[in-house]
Amino acid sequence: MRTPVALAPMAGGVGTPALAAAVTRAGGLGSLGGAYLTPQALRDAIREVRALTDGPLLVNLFAPQTVPAVTPDAIALATAELAPFHDALRLSPPTLPERVQEDFGAQLDVVLEERPEVLSVAFGPVPPDALAALRARGILTVGTATSLSEALALHESGVDAITVQGGAAGGHRGGWQEDALADTLTLAREVARATPLPVLAAGGLMTADDVRSAQNAGATLAQCGTVFLMADEAGTSVPYRHALQDGRRGTVLTRAYSGRAARGLRTTFTDAVHHPLPFPHQNALTRPLRTAGAQARQADVLSLWAGTGYRQAQATGAAQIVASLTPGN
Ligand SMILES: Cc1cc2nc3c(=O)[nH]c(=O)nc-3n(C[C@H](O)[C@H](O)[C@H](O)COP(=O)(O)O)c2cc1C
Repeated sequence: MRTPVALAPMAGGVGTPALAAAVTRAGGLGSLGGAYLTPQALRDAIREVRALTDGPLLVNLFAPQTVPAVTPDAIALATAELAPFHDALRLSPPTLPERVQEDFGAQLDVVLEERPEVLSVAFGPVPPDALAALRARGILTVGTATSLSEALALHESGVDAITVQGGAAGGHRGGWQEDALADTLTLAREVARATPLPVLAAGGLMTADDVRSAQNAGATLAQCGTVFLMADEAGTSVPYRHALQDGRRGTVLTRAYSGRAARGLRTTFTDAVHHPLPFPHQNALTRPLRTAGAQARQADVLSLWAGTGYRQAQATGAAQIVASLTPGN
C-alpha cells in the first residue's frame, strides 16, 4: 500500500468491485462488503476485483447471528407500520420471508477458496474455527470494535488487527454493544495503547488532515466509507446520491430498516417506524420495499446509510478521493 487509506466495506450495493479495485490501484486497501451476497455472488465479486487489480483486497462479512424468535404480535406491529409504504408503491402487503440471512459458513468457504488478503468481520468476534481456517490459508483477520472492551475481547480472540468504529460512522454499528458511540480518535488512541494490534480507525474521517489525526492517535489505517458514497465507481443509486447532495436531512441512528442500530440520512421511514423486528428479521421484512423504492426513485423508503461527515462526500473518481485523503499530497 502507498497510502494509509482503506475503503470501508459497504454491503448492500454501494461498494462495488470497480470501487474496490480503484482504491487498491490508487495505493489504498480496496474492500468488498460481502454480508448480503450469496456465496456465488461473493465469489463473482472477488474474481471481478482480481481481474481489475493484483493488489490487496479486504472482504467483510457479518458474524453469524443467533436468529431471535419473534412473536406473532411483534410481526403484526412491524408489518402494520410498513403497510402504508407498501400501499403507496402498490406492493402486496409486507410478509416475513422464511430465510432472513445468508449462510456465514458458505460465505466463509468462498473466502477460504478465493483468498482475499484480509477478512474483516462485523457484529461479533470471528468464530474460533473460522479464525484457525483463515490463518491456515494466510488470510489476515480483522475484528470490529465500537468500545475498548470489545477491542480487548477481539484481541483475546486472536485476530490480527482491529477496526475501531466511532459514533460518527455511516452504516451499522459494527460491534455488538449497539449503544457504544465513541469519538473515533479517542477510541483509536485507547485501543492502540491497550493492545499491540494494528488499528484501523473508522468514523468521520473525510480529509487528509483527518487521516493524519487518526495516525497521530495510533491508527495504522483510516477506514473511510462516507467520503466514497458519491464516487463514480460506487453503486450508490440516483435517489441516494440526490439525498446526499441535498444536504438538508441530517443523519439519525435508526433500527427502522434492519432492526439493528445504523446511521443514515433521516427519512419519512425512519420517522414512522417505532416497532422494528430484531435484526435480521426487519432487514428481510423491509427488503421488498427498499428494492421497489430504488426502482421508483423514492429516497424516503431507502436505507441511505451515511456518516455525520456526508456533506464532504466527493462526486469524483475514487483515485481522486484516495489522493485527497493522503497526508502530504
Ligand atoms: C453505505 C454503508 C455501508 C456499510 N456497510 C458495512 C458493512 O457491510 N460491513 C461493515 O463492517 N461496515 C459497514 N459500514 C461501516 C463502515 O465499515 C465504516 O465503519 C464507516 O463507513 C466509517 O465511517 P464513515 O462512514 O464516517 O467514513 C457501512 C457504511 C456505509 C456508509
